[in-house]
Amino acid sequence: MSELIKEINKRRTFAIISHPDAGKTTLTEKLLLFGGAIHVAGAVKSNKIKKTATSDWMEIEKQRGISVATSVMGFEYDGYKINILDTPGHQDFAEDTYRTLTAVDSVIIVVDSAKGVETQTRKLMEVCRMRHTPVMIFINKMDRDGRDPFELLDELEEELQIKVRPLSWPIDSGQRFKGVYNIYQEKLDLYTPSKQTVTQSIEFKDINSSDLEKHIGETLASKLRDDIELIDGVYSELDLNQYLKGQVAPVFFGSALNNFGVKELLDCFVKIAPSPRPIEAIEREVKPEENAFTGFIFKIHANMDPNHRSCIAFVKICSGKFERNINYKHVRLNRQLKFSSPTAFMAQKKETVDEAYAGDIVGLPDTGNFKIGDTLTSGEDLHFKGLPSFSPEMFKYIENADPMKSKQLQKGIDQLMDEGVAQLFTNQFNGRKIIGTVGQLQFEVIQYRLLHEYGAQCRWEAINLYKACWIESDNKDQLNDFKKRKAQYMAVDKEGRDVFLADSNYVLMMAQQDFKDIRFHFTSEF
Ligand code: G4P
Repeated sequence: MSELIKEINKRRTFAIISHPDAGKTTLTEKLLLFGGAIHVAGAVKSNKIKKTATSDWMEIEKQRGISVATSVMGFEYDGYKINILDTPGHQDFAEDTYRTLTAVDSVIIVVDSAKGVETQTRKLMEVCRMRHTPVMIFINKMDRDGRDPFELLDELEEELQIKVRPLSWPIDSGQRFKGVYNIYQEKLDLYTPSKQTVTQSIEFKDINSSDLEKHIGETLASKLRDDIELIDGVYSELDLNQYLKGQVAPVFFGSALNNFGVKELLDCFVKIAPSPRPIEAIEREVKPEENAFTGFIFKIHANMDPNHRSCIAFVKICSGKFERNINYKHVRLNRQLKFSSPTAFMAQKKETVDEAYAGDIVGLPDTGNFKIGDTLTSGEDLHFKGLPSFSPEMFKYIENADPMKSKQLQKGIDQLMDEGVAQLFTNQFNGRKIIGTVGQLQFEVIQYRLLHEYGAQCRWEAINLYKACWIESDNKDQLNDFKKRKAQYMAVDKEGRDVFLADSNYVLMMAQQDFKDIRFHFTSEF
């Protein structure tokens, strides 16, 4: 096996996603502890955006600044190279999370055992489903009184629209939580409520053995046997292929805070989660083991230092090997670029790397060459697909508040949009510019950054909009008719594509009904 294939096969690049507070940070930290990437609990906390900070976005940006180092957390475990891609916890940055999901090969979803599926979980799962991303589910906080596990599984299947297959099973919960039966490894894992103690794990191939009673008592032993029988009857064996296609999600139960069930999750994860997979470019499918380097930019992290408009562009390597100081083609600009100080992220430290392989993420210091979605290659003209923008949910007119600085404002808006901070639509009727975001915070971020990085001042004006959707049709007459009738509500996005600005759900529904040949898209990729 070639060196390249060996390197690629051992890579596991994934993201942990959850609704805020389900335990993503805690789980991440425990995984890092296993990889020896950190040595004390609490080390990942700086990355967490505090709940109290909802109105204090400066603080949030500061914390996001700190989080450059934790954007990607790489470590070695059991012969595997693991890359965890961090996603912002704050829902106003959901768009960041969506984009990060384009750069992972699989995800782990954390669910709070008492709360079940929550809004953010549902939304993020939609993105995974669109991309057929393999998912594993960790039901957390089993040390608290939670819901009935069968009921939780039903809810997962229904709400996340994915089949599930438990690979571990809890024995009671809350104060009486005894541990789990690890179906995947055929072990009984006994729980001790302590962050320090390592799980007591007993080989247990046959749960009908009378030894079970010795460990968990008669009542629980008999309940466990019944549960396992029911599971085997209801859920078919885990089909790895279905998992890899994103059709079935293996489920583990545990308590991240108590480091219980985490190693079991990780051990199964490294074995079954995919190494980098082939990626669709517009021109062709690119396989990770191809020798020529290719990659795409999925995230741009601005530096908060206003004196240097520098940022870090994060590239996901799709194929081959990336090397320092080698010329690569920036396809959109049709220019050769080389990078003298690319950074990789190991053990929570940023360090300059000489080489990295398909599956890895490399940070490229940049001064404005990159946009989200840009492709870098060894020479081929390739364009990677799969970086959609989503219909924003909040809209405001952006106006120039300092007539002397209109050029700066224009440049600032353009660059911030390239970074993916928000989306810009230009109303075709009155020429006014509309900024669309997924959360209130972005408006504040934009205003602040325009002022501090570009010396431009903007003002927001309210606009009543429900949704912006991209429209297209093969029926040109109908499309033109629609555009004429809805002239006041027609806009173009940054790429000049037609966007319909619906001011209510009713208007949108009527439009869909009346113009049957028009397709209304809620993501920019169709
Ligand atoms: P998030 O990143 O998904 O937002 O969640 P995070 O890990 O920060 O966890 C949210 C809260 O849930 C934290 O408590 C954390 O300690 C707690 N938690 C995580 N896993 C478990 C678990 O297995 N059992 C129990 N009982 N609690 C868990 P907090 O009080 O909000 O924060 P902190 O003061 O502990 O930092």
